[in-house]
Amino acid sequence: MGTYHDQFQASLTDPEGYWLDQAKHVDWFKAPTRALDASRAPIYQWYPDGTLNTAYNALDRHVINGRADQPALIQHSAITGARKTWTYAELLDHVARLGGALKAMGVNPGDRVVIYMPMIPEAVMAMLACARIGAVHSVVFGGFAPAELAIRIDDAQPKVIISASCGLEGQRVIEYKPMLDRAIDKAEHKPDHVLMVQREQAPAELTQGRDIDFRDVMRPGAVEAAEAVEVKATDPLYILYTSGTTGKPKGIVRDNGGHAVAMAFSMREIYGVGPGEVMFTASDVGWVVGHSFIVYAPLIVGATTILFEGKPVGTPDAGTFWRVVNEHEAKVMFTAPTAMRAIRKVDPDGTFIRQVGVPSLKTLFLAGERLDPDTYHWATEQLGVPVIDNWWQTETGYPIASNMRGMEPMPIKPGSPTVPIPGYDVQILDPTAAQAPRNEEGAIAIKLPMPPGTLSGIWGDESRYVNGYLTAYPGYYLSGDGGFIDDDGYIYVMGRTDDVINVAGHRLSTGSMEAVLAGHPAVAECAVIGVNDTLKGQQPRGFVVLKEGADGDRDQIVKELIQAVRNDIGAVASLKQIDIVNALPKTRSGKILRKTMREIADGGQGSIPSTIEDPQVIEDLRAVLTRAG
Ligand code: COA
Ligand code: AMP
Repeated sequence: MGTYHDQFQASLTDPEGYWLDQAKHVDWFKAPTRALDASRAPIYQWYPDGTLNTAYNALDRHVINGRADQPALIQHSAITGARKTWTYAELLDHVARLGGALKAMGVNPGDRVVIYMPMIPEAVMAMLACARIGAVHSVVFGGFAPAELAIRIDDAQPKVIISASCGLEGQRVIEYKPMLDRAIDKAEHKPDHVLMVQREQAPAELTQGRDIDFRDVMRPGAVEAAEAVEVKATDPLYILYTSGTTGKPKGIVRDNGGHAVAMAFSMREIYGVGPGEVMFTASDVGWVVGHSFIVYAPLIVGATTILFEGKPVGTPDAGTFWRVVNEHEAKVMFTAPTAMRAIRKVDPDGTFIRQVGVPSLKTLFLAGERLDPDTYHWATEQLGVPVIDNWWQTETGYPIASNMRGMEPMPIKPGSPTVPIPGYDVQILDPTAAQAPRNEEGAIAIKLPMPPGTLSGIWGDESRYVNGYLTAYPGYYLSGDGGFIDDDGYIYVMGRTDDVINVAGHRLSTGSMEAVLAGHPAVAECAVIGVNDTLKGQQPRGFVVLKEGADGDRDQIVKELIQAVRNDIGAVASLKQIDIVNALPKTRSGKILRKTMREIADGGQGSIPSTIEDPQVIEDLRAVLTRAG
């Protein structure tokens, strides 16, 4: 355990030495002799001459090193009651056979495989099986609708899609197969095969010639188990789509080598979890938190990971998370602040926490949205353990800022995720690209290069990476978040500076919701903004202006618009409030004043620019905006 300041300094003054040293925690086919490749700056690559296999690091090496019988994966469904444990040896066996099945379906190194699955162990196996054979997986969150899935299928062009017949949302059974079929129909690219896990709650009828039953390929002897193939450290491990400001999601590409190093590093230094210890991350494999801290990081360090199916409340009650911690003796738990707020709402006194007992729990990590001080204090008091806010994004793959539990502890300041992780030179910039003074808000930017494990680009569109992230402030990565750094060097992340919103820890694009609303025949123009919400952090709210003569049944139009967003983006968008208004406030050049609308909806006066086209429009809107959702 070293001091944070020493490590942070070392990472910036000697990144080559620092990250080559960190690379020793990973097993390589060919160990890298160099850390950073800056030859194509501002696009950087890590470990250009190293080769490895990520699944080998997550499974084989632990079996070889004496952890064969240790639990690797624990399934815990709060909905079906399923409990099952896979040891490292068992998980390796399943993953190797699934890798063999994929190979038999024609999946070669570099080919893409889309995974559209609920929180079942086969999802973890699918990811690892792709990694094992050098294929690139792209997991699509189950809450997205067919149209969103189709966009990702067309972008990633998968040879195979792995899916399951249904997901379970509380008491509801969500059939995935019809959604998958619609997505494949809609997509121009067609996969050769669909590998389908049949769940007993709603088995699916398989499409002849295309669909293969997961059970058939996994029967012992059905296929030849696949070996872990050697891939370059710079080869892609996965693509994970995330929302940007436009309707088209961005395929964030993660490499193999930098990612494996970053996962091992973050488990040790940030989360303080080592071999044989249990981590419970209540997220979804469809999000980056799930990729990193349900699947890859815990397994890469030889820990035990828990795959939880359920919700923080209602499955069956607000004691569910604590039961998982208690039953499996989790040392560390990780979820989103919104989950804590949901629990607090129904169990403000923490009765369940005391009833169930969480003696094994040493730390609670929260990420995905800002940890508001109120929720921080509640969780700290109720659990009696450090509650750690960590700030990061799909693009980075692991925290940019956190209180690092593997190092000498630093004081926690509520409202701040503490300090930048080694390798991240975080700076606050003003619009002229000058560094903002301490305590003054600006754009949070990261001086290039970012450390290993961060995105290597956007799938199939390098210019989008350069234009979207690296051009606004040359030499810096633009995080899209705004905030400030205080006198002690603590970072405060206050929210997005673009039109991305964060609903219940889910990152969503208001741009894509606007595109759906604009597609309705009655709509002339529209705006969607994110407004503060005490439970979900933010909620989307829509405003539409109808075309002349389209004043029919307004309630019916609103219903249709809400349904359209649900159909085209998915239930997860949760756009439930849409107002029909006479006009949208704009500047004289026609830019809709979304920021002003947001400020008013959140209870402020709203900054009204001098370039406003018609000040009366915003005054007319004020009453609508301040009406609670
Ligand atoms: N498959 C299908 N539908 C899904 C889904 C999935 N995987 N995940 C969510 N949905 C649906 C929900 O059923 C809901 O549909 P509804 O409008 O018909 O009720 C809708 O999408 C919104 O879901 P959600 O945002 O989860 O809201 P909720 O009201 O069901 O639950 C919380 C609220 C706070 C309990 C829940 O959002 C939560 O647990 N959040 C934690 C988030 C998290 O872990 N984020 C990952 C980053 S760490
Ligand atoms: P995602 O890419 O889905 O992980 O979402 C990333 C975005 O969520 C960030 O850009 C932030 O806006 C927000 N976010 C995540 N974690 C935090 C945090 N700890 N504090 C503040 N915002 C956060």
